[in-house]
Amino acid sequence: MRNILVLQGDGIGPEITNEAVKVMKAAAKAYNFELNFDYGLIGAKAIYGQGKPLPEETIQKAEKSDAILLGAVGVPELDGEKDPDRRPEMGLLGIRKAMQLYCNIRPVKTYNAIKHLSPLKEKVVAGTDFVIFRELTGGIYFGEKGRTDSGQTAFDDCRYSVSEIRRIAKLAYEEAMRRNKKLLLADKANVLETSRLWRETVTEMNKEYPEVTLEYQFIDNAAMQIILNPSQFSVIVTENMFGDILSDEASVITGSLGMLPSASYGEKTALFEPSHGSYPQAAGQNTANPVATILSAAMLLQYIGYADAAKIVEDAVTAALESGVTTSDINTGNPVGTTDVGDFIAKYVTENAKVTV
Ligand code: IPM
Ligand code: MN
Repeated sequence: MRNILVLQGDGIGPEITNEAVKVMKAAAKAYNFELNFDYGLIGAKAIYGQGKPLPEETIQKAEKSDAILLGAVGVPELDGEKDPDRRPEMGLLGIRKAMQLYCNIRPVKTYNAIKHLSPLKEKVVAGTDFVIFRELTGGIYFGEKGRTDSGQTAFDDCRYSVSEIRRIAKLAYEEAMRRNKKLLLADKANVLETSRLWRETVTEMNKEYPEVTLEYQFIDNAAMQIILNPSQFSVIVTENMFGDILSDEASVITGSLGMLPSASYGEKTALFEPSHGSYPQAAGQNTANPVATILSAAMLLQYIGYADAAKIVEDAVTAALESGVTTSDINTGNPVGTTDVGDFIAKYVTENAKVTV
């Protein structure tokens, strides 16, 4: 029995997580394991319900669970709020910090069935399959922030320690070993001291992984290369802010932002969430694409030890795309609803599970 904490969050969060839960239930049934789902509050829902974006109760539930599935946070009504207790994204940053989720993994993969939707030429995007390892609990996001007394100057401190760099670089090197033994560090070592420490540390670690070819790109160049020639990448490791920007850029080249999952690993329970946001305009309309969340659930299943189930969920997603069972972001002609995509994928899992005894 594994305990999954579901944090639905705001906007389309409830709808997309419902579909992912539906698919996980189908996988558990087909592969004969038990999952127990509990729910907690985060983001605007938590602000309205309990007065803050990450209630203590949610952290406690997270610590007791085996894995966390998160939808998305954020509502337009709270945009621009200055009080941290009224900012939904503080729930997300808070849970990353509380669970020490220092390694955010964002795979960027093209699917044949939708590559024509890419803003890039098909021949440029074809074959793209890389993964971004984004540091998630350090850097400018979590450094000291403030204003001077006059209020005319503001600052955000960016710090990284060798140990913070090492722990994520280790996971990135391990992934490079599983892939084609290529690791790229994206930094700004021509300007930033933190980047120079990243370079020194990641370069030094190359001795522990002599088979891995380590390359470097300045982040501005990497941003350009993702557009020019995305299939050159395999594993990219980078700091928090650079990874945030690079992963949004990378997410759209596959054809739809609604396709990209993510996993965040750390000292405690891991968390799985789509790479996209809460898309409040679509909330409650049964139009949002649940695939990124369903693929995040596949990563979750893999993490809790059910690799076969994870694989069949991925196959089911490919089948849904190939059969045109897709939402309006992908399918402008004859789109289906959020729940239809979940139903198709769950059914595929049920019918195609290959249980080996
Ligand atoms: C993401 C998001 C968050 C981030 C925001 C909502 C704080 O953009 O998960 O990439 O910047 O990390
Ligand atoms: Mn982002």
